Amino acid sequence: MRWKRKHRYCSVAIFLIVLVFVGRLVYQGQWHCKITQETLAAQELQTIKTSFNFSMTYLLRLKELEESSKLLTSNENISATDGSLQQKLENSSLLNISLNDEMSVAKILQDEPYEYILNEPFSCLLRAPFLVLLIAVEPKKTDARDAIRKTWANESVAWGLGIIRLFFIGVNQDTQRNGSKLQHTIEEESDRYHDIIQQDYRDTYNNLTLKTLMGMYWITKYCPEAKYVMKTDSDMFVNTEYLMEKILKPKGQQTQKYFTGLHMTGFFPNRNNESKWYMPLELFPGRRYPTFCSGTGYVFSGDVAQRIYVASLTIPRLHLEDVYVGICLAKLKIEPEPPPNEHLFNHWQVPYSSCTYSNLITSHGFEPNELIQYWQHLQSNKHIPCQTTG
Ligand SMILES: *[C@@H]1O[C@H](CO)[C@@H](O)[C@H](O)[C@H]1NC(C)=O
Ligand SMILES: *[C@@H]1O[C@H](CO)[C@@H](O)[C@H](O)[C@H]1NC(C)=O
Ligand SMILES: *[C@@H]1O[C@H](CO)[C@@H](O)[C@H](O)[C@H]1NC(C)=O
Ligand SMILES: *[C@@H]1O[C@H](CO)[C@@H](O)[C@H](O)[C@H]1NC(C)=O
Ligand SMILES: *[C@@H]1O[C@H](CO)[C@@H](O)[C@H](O)[C@H]1NC(C)=O
Ligand SMILES: *[C@@H]1O[C@H](CO)[C@@H](O)[C@H](O)[C@H]1NC(C)=O
Ligand SMILES: *[C@@H]1O[C@H](CO)[C@@H](O)[C@H](O)[C@H]1NC(C)=O
Ligand SMILES: *[C@@H]1O[C@H](CO)[C@@H](O)[C@H](O)[C@H]1NC(C)=O
Repeated sequence: MRWKRKHRYCSVAIFLIVLVFVGRLVYQGQWHCKITQETLAAQELQTIKTSFNFSMTYLLRLKELEESSKLLTSNENISATDGSLQQKLENSSLLNISLNDEMSVAKILQDEPYEYILNEPFSCLLRAPFLVLLIAVEPKKTDARDAIRKTWANESVAWGLGIIRLFFIGVNQDTQRNGSKLQHTIEEESDRYHDIIQQDYRDTYNNLTLKTLMGMYWITKYCPEAKYVMKTDSDMFVNTEYLMEKILKPKGQQTQKYFTGLHMTGFFPNRNNESKWYMPLELFPGRRYPTFCSGTGYVFSGDVAQRIYVASLTIPRLHLEDVYVGICLAKLKIEPEPPPNEHLFNHWQVPYSSCTYSNLITSHGFEPNELIQYWQHLQSNKHIPCQTTG
């Protein structure tokens, strides 16, 4: 009798366990199907609540942050050989934030530097990307965005490879006009492709540094799991497949502090105040810039986005974007790696042939229609790129 009762209890218990298990499977299955913006928003809110929890550690880190930035900003001289500044930066735990260290990251991410007009906070939640393409583009360049979507950042090619494509834009008089047609177009594009991050800063050439930093910030906040990031421009040809298959994938999983692109070494600041590249002595007193990578296209491991953003909080924001990123890297003691061969990254337009273009990563200066034309040719000669007359 007693045995029987025990047996019955056991059966009931097993039945309950199975029920719970099956229930969970069903629930999870549904969750995957019905993954809606609302549930994601709720999760996001919870994440924010948790990571912004004001704990002692958090307050201590905050204090540390304030103190070290005071130290750093009091030193106005930025020269790559400034050992003491470098030591301070190096020793600062600020630059040693591991991605798990949510408390300190939370502080940095608490105040959005510029309000979002369009954002895609969930793109990385749905698929942790192997490569994020940060593409700087002017608001009015709808054609360039369309050409890029159709060619080197085509979703159907990109998704399979684990790529996320994002265009970074700001605002200008045109987008801010009442009932702006341009803004309307941008919003339609955004609805359709979900690939536009628009923020409330002036979209000018001299604000390109800011735009790039907003990209770094975005990665830090919304996509810390990204393995690699590439920053590039809207008039570029990028052989994404070659970059992924030949350069990044063979590097394996554990890459940190990696940065590569077309090296610009030993450049002197331009002191001619009429030049596009003018650098006032007050902003950069050094004789030569540290080695930087051409802003037309550089690639880095995901962790570098956060490091650069944090470093940028203590370095006056020079308007030359690629030089500026180079200065941040010098402070961070991250040395840009040379690419495996010197013909991969180009900041000029390499004469087209399917053979050369299937063996390079960047080429510069394309009109949208040229880009499409070359891309289609390259695709149709993909299997024997070097046996045609090109
Ligand atoms: C906030 O932090 C405290 C102390 O670290 C912890 O006890 C508490 O559970 C945390 N709250 C949340 C919502 O994570
Ligand atoms: C900046 O550098 C100049 C020349 O090297 C030096 O005279 C000046 O004291 C420095 N300023 C600061 C704030 O370190
Ligand atoms: C920090 O700086 C001190 C000297 O100021 C040095 O002795 C130390 O090795 C540095 N590094 C760390 C990780 O503290
Ligand atoms: C940086 O972080 C790592 C791991 O979290 C730690 O071992 C190392 O000592 C830290 N370095 C500094 C300078 O704080
Ligand atoms: C992307 O590529 C696929 C397959 O190559 C093609 O069918 C699709 O039309 C392309 N997408 C766009 C937006 O051109
Ligand atoms: C924009 O236009 C609407 C009506 O067309 C008007 O009510 C509104 O005040 C305008 N806003 C600005 C900022 O001009
Ligand atoms: C950059 O954008 C900010 C924010 O909109 C603006 O205040 C600043 O004037 C802009 N700078 C340039 C050089 O356009
Ligand atoms: C550029 O420099 C020249 C000579 O140094 C000076 O006369 C001129 O006013 C400057 N122009 C601007 C726009 O600052």
